[in-house]
Amino acid sequence: MTDLVVRRLLIDLQTPFGRNWCGGDAFSTAFFNALSMSFPFGEQFFIDAVRDVTATLPPEAQEQYRADVRGFIGQEATHRRIHSLFNEHLESQGLTDRWSPRAAKRMQLLEGTDPRHALAITAATEHFTAMFGEWLLAHPGVLDGAEPRLRTMWLWHSAEELEHKAVAFDLYKAAGGSHPWRTRWFRSVTLMFLGDLMRQTVANLRHEGQLWQWATWKSAARILLSRGGLLRGNWSAWRSYFRADFHPAQQDSSLSVLWLEDNRAQFTSVGAAPEAATALQ
Ligand SMILES: [Fe+2]
Ligand SMILES: [Fe+2]
Repeated sequence: MTDLVVRRLLIDLQTPFGRNWCGGDAFSTAFFNALSMSFPFGEQFFIDAVRDVTATLPPEAQEQYRADVRGFIGQEATHRRIHSLFNEHLESQGLTDRWSPRAAKRMQLLEGTDPRHALAITAATEHFTAMFGEWLLAHPGVLDGAEPRLRTMWLWHSAEELEHKAVAFDLYKAAGGSHPWRTRWFRSVTLMFLGDLMRQTVANLRHEGQLWQWATWKSAARILLSRGGLLRGNWSAWRSYFRADFHPAQQDSSLSVLWLEDNRAQFTSVGAAPEAATALQ
């Protein structure tokens, strides 16, 4: 893997944004808001899982993955920080995150178990974020009409998810994680992640009084179920995770490379030094 760069995004997240910030589209606004609510807890969980399993590897394997682990932690820590700022605005809009407390409670069940379970959950969720990131970079029109700074935030996060999509997976393999547990957790993550995402999206829409609007459901059908939509368009990528010879690198990430090249002015590099990763948390 090429070295993962930790970037500081140069966007203003202090100025409040509108309740219907995603081009006035109630569904996509509620959907992106729901996703953002899950990130601070979820990404900390991924960081911890990666750290915990790395510590169990023999020294030479730790050395082999050191740069990837640093880059992964630095990128996810930056995502957490940016999305926490974004989420503060959601809170002041009166939206309530019910997803994170539910996920935190569920993940307590893993305490004291083999750390590879948490890493299998991380690798499974990283496949989801990679699928979502690739889809968003291929369909940036979903963000048409969104404030440029928020559009940048979502596309930057998507691009970095594609960049580091193999780290948790490779570590899981290096730690001797099994194929049956990998696919078992992927099934569970699919149910939990999509179930939680839909519940939170519905709660956000209800809060905005947009749940029973025809335009909301029309937009949901277009974004999720149309040809090339998020769910329908990712069916084969989702299924590929069950193959014994699956590897995240088998999926194209060229849109990530292109976006990062074309948008250099939107960020500065802070490197992938451990102190940078720690400082960003
Ligand atoms: Fe992330
Ligand atoms: Fe990630």
